[in-house]
Amino acid sequence: MADPKKLYIKTYGCQMNVYDSERMAEALGGSGYVETSTPDDADMILLNTCHIREKAAEKVYSELGRFKGLKAEKPDLKIGVAGCVAQAEGEEIMRRQPMVDLVVGPQSYHRLPEKEDQVRGGKKALDTDFPAEDKFEVLRKRPKAARGPTAFLTVQEGCDKFCAFCVVPYTRGAEVSRPAERVLAEARELVERGVREITLLGQNVNAYHGEGPAGPNGAGGDWSLARLIWALAEVDGLERIRFTTSHPNDMDNDLIEAHGTCDKLMPYLHLPVQSGSDKVLKAMNRKHTAKSYLRLIERIRAARPDILISGDFIVGFPGETEADFADTMALVEAVRYGQCYSFKYSTRPGTPAAERAQVDESVKADRLARLQALLTDQQRAIQDAMVGQTVKVLFEREGRMPGQMAGKSDHLHAVHVVGEGIGIGDLTPVRITQSGPNSLSGVKAA
Ligand code: 5AD
Ligand code: SF4
Repeated sequence: MADPKKLYIKTYGCQMNVYDSERMAEALGGSGYVETSTPDDADMILLNTCHIREKAAEKVYSELGRFKGLKAEKPDLKIGVAGCVAQAEGEEIMRRQPMVDLVVGPQSYHRLPEKEDQVRGGKKALDTDFPAEDKFEVLRKRPKAARGPTAFLTVQEGCDKFCAFCVVPYTRGAEVSRPAERVLAEARELVERGVREITLLGQNVNAYHGEGPAGPNGAGGDWSLARLIWALAEVDGLERIRFTTSHPNDMDNDLIEAHGTCDKLMPYLHLPVQSGSDKVLKAMNRKHTAKSYLRLIERIRAARPDILISGDFIVGFPGETEADFADTMALVEAVRYGQCYSFKYSTRPGTPAAERAQVDESVKADRLARLQALLTDQQRAIQDAMVGQTVKVLFEREGRMPGQMAGKSDHLHAVHVVGEGIGIGDLTPVRITQSGPNSLSGVKAA
């Protein structure tokens, strides 16, 4: 038998890309590829790109430049670009980097084997369609091999919200939900293979409605994320459920209530607000106010008092004044976040805000530093308060130190424990003894 061909995938960006890279590797597994951890011995290199960060496309072009030497040494090497930069740039990629053989957008991964055939035959392949078929169904079924205790599961893709700074509605397309029975079947299969925690993924995951595109008034299909969570909670052997990322306007009553009543739903919620100024929120087309967000947080905390809230912020959005920024700081003070991502606004070609007058770079940098200092203080305070408490930890891997095991608490804190008798996949009570900059450590509780 011929040696298997080697596939090197480099993944950028969000968890959805991590999930997609796994699916692409499986799809190409059917065409005789095995994964390799280095580009040097690869027969195919795939960059699974992200378009969220600044100058994303430029970074992809320079990364591709680094493969020139490899391609010169090995003319049979095929190079592909997948993900959101592929979707946004399309043909332009092959024009600027003629050594690229394959460009494939996120909605077309199930056609990869076919495209691979095409490039092996010496042709170029470009596929940035938004096809009607469910790519996850068409993608080769996962091999039944055992896997680690945690997994991502994409349930929804795309977004209809059109925040003025964001490329997602353009690169991932309109909001589409996967049918619930398919999600449940995939979850059961993951659990059979050893998974005990599933994180449901979607760009706007709480808009989940269970069937195809959203209808004219929002939902199409009679599912909701809450109903999906309750159905998943029935799966024996699945111990923990999480979801990310949510829009405040799609946090319905049932989902809030589930946080209070569903034991398997973990007490952690990523709920980006982006800004605390109503003027900026309006300019961002967020369709909520600072007050409505704070009220929502109150209701969620009433349902689940110990829930850890995380968020995303953008500073220096076009038109943001010092007073607007002060409103953001005040909102952060009011919420008390456990974990946050914060960014300087940067333009994305094709989005409305890119055309507006921009805030000075030095002003942005100064505001970001002040915001991050506050967020870090809050994160540390919440983490430090865990010392002395006993928390449940799902162990995922060995730690860096001898005899150390690493896992995550219900609140998604990284926890390290040194000691005998803990295995990967164990869900074990741990007494927290110490809080470090980015993780907790503790001892196995009796
Ligand atoms: N500039 C800065 N940050 C952005 N994000 C999305 N688009 C931009 C942009 N143009 C941030 C938002 C979003 C997170 C995933 O990335 O905070 O929630
Ligand atoms: Fe982008 Fe999220 Fe806004 Fe959708 S809701 S446009 S994904 S920031």
